[in-house]
Amino acid sequence: MSSWIKVLDQAPKEGTMVEVNIKDKDLFVTMNNGALYCGENRCPHEDIKLTLGCLKGNRVKCSLHGYSFDLATGDSSEEDVDDMKTYNTKQENNKIYIQI
Ligand code: FES
Repeated sequence: MSSWIKVLDQAPKEGTMVEVNIKDKDLFVTMNNGALYCGENRCPHEDIKLTLGCLKGNRVKCSLHGYSFDLATGDSSEEDVDDMKTYNTKQENNKIYIQI
C-alpha cells in the first residue's frame, strides 16, 4: 500500500531538480512552471541519473543520448525505451510529500 512520505522541507526552486533517496529508491523532485513533479532518478534507457540532464518544456531530457520523458506521465520520447516511473506529489505547509 502506498502512503505519503515527506521528502523535502521546502519546494525545489523553479526549474531545478533535487535528488531524494527514499525507501532505497533514487528519485528527483522538481518544480517546473509552478507545478511539482517526482520521478525515478534513473534513465529507463541506461543506468544514468536524470538529474544530470535538464528540463525542457514539460519533459526531463537525459544527458547521455537526449531522450526525454514527460514529467507528469513519464511518457518516453522513444518507442523502444520504457517510460520513466513517476510519483504523486503534494505540498503542505511548505513541505513536500510524495506518494510511494
Ligand atoms: S541513457 Fe538516457 S537516453 Fe540513453
